[in-house]
Amino acid sequence: MAEEAEVYLNGSFVPESEAKVSVFDRGFNGGEGVYDVTRSYRHKLFKLREHIDRLYRSLRYTRIDCGIAPVDMERLSIEVFERNRRFLGSEDDFAVWQVVSRGVHQQSVSHKGDGRPSVAIYCLPVAFGSFARQYLDGAMLMTPSTRRIPPQSLEAKAKITNKMNHIIALHEAQMVNPRCVPLMLDIDGNISETHMGNFFFVARGRLCTPTERNVLGGITRSTIMDLARDLGVDVEEGDFTPYDVYTADEAFTCSTSPTIVPVKSLNGVQIDGGVPGPLTLRLMKAWIELIGVDFVGQAIAHLPDRDKQQALGDWAKLRDG
Ligand SMILES: Cc1ncc(COP(=O)(O)O)c(C=O)c1O
Repeated sequence: MAEEAEVYLNGSFVPESEAKVSVFDRGFNGGEGVYDVTRSYRHKLFKLREHIDRLYRSLRYTRIDCGIAPVDMERLSIEVFERNRRFLGSEDDFAVWQVVSRGVHQQSVSHKGDGRPSVAIYCLPVAFGSFARQYLDGAMLMTPSTRRIPPQSLEAKAKITNKMNHIIALHEAQMVNPRCVPLMLDIDGNISETHMGNFFFVARGRLCTPTERNVLGGITRSTIMDLARDLGVDVEEGDFTPYDVYTADEAFTCSTSPTIVPVKSLNGVQIDGGVPGPLTLRLMKAWIELIGVDFVGQAIAHLPDRDKQQALGDWAKLRDG
């Protein structure tokens, strides 16, 4: 049998095929859990501490005590990465997941739950192929009818394993076009976030993004805001509607794995400034400088051979032009 990657599960390191959680686990039957995801760039984890801090804020909000100190969660995450590092090719990277559920609380006929949380840490390969083309083509966004759950009902700042709100939005978007990405509105009609990332647009030279009221406080989002300020660009957090995006100069989405993805259109309305727009491109280059890895070129290198050379050439022209 091929050598298996390892997973940390409840105090042990086990092969992936043995990393199993009970059907009586509250994460499985009640969606009761939190998680976080940290990416590596050329095999170096980026802002792991910030992701762990957010995980512990999510745990506190959901009243789950994972029984592990944050420094140990950090150490274990690094250990899982190191144990699996040998599976990475030079152009590959991992997304390291920490997943915590409330554990087995149900009392089944034969099994008495011990009430302890379930804690898993594992590595997934970054799915470069799923987003590589979007850097050059731009993402097509649409606003689904499903609204982001308001923070009065469930706090958007917590990263909760039950993603059904986002998943229904994604299905709605993909039924319009399999390549469509949902840009969710909140119940007041203001833009919030996509199913897996935050959102920015550029208007009158300012970088605009929805307030943190009804979005996950993305680590990528806050890093981009810092980079923009370093470039001398004003950043505005506010309430924005689709109108503001239709009339914007450029737009992009952002999240841990793809980092920054230019947006081509919203509800069929083309964003004027190009893909990527000039400020979006400056921010992509600033990110490349920050981490020392051309994350766009790296993703494009995972495209099938027939598309790769052309796409690499197109990206090099943009980056160096
Ligand atoms: C709903 C949602 N919003 C925003 C983000 C972006 O957060 P980060 O930049 O920390 O990955 C994510 C990331 O997975 C997400 O799932």
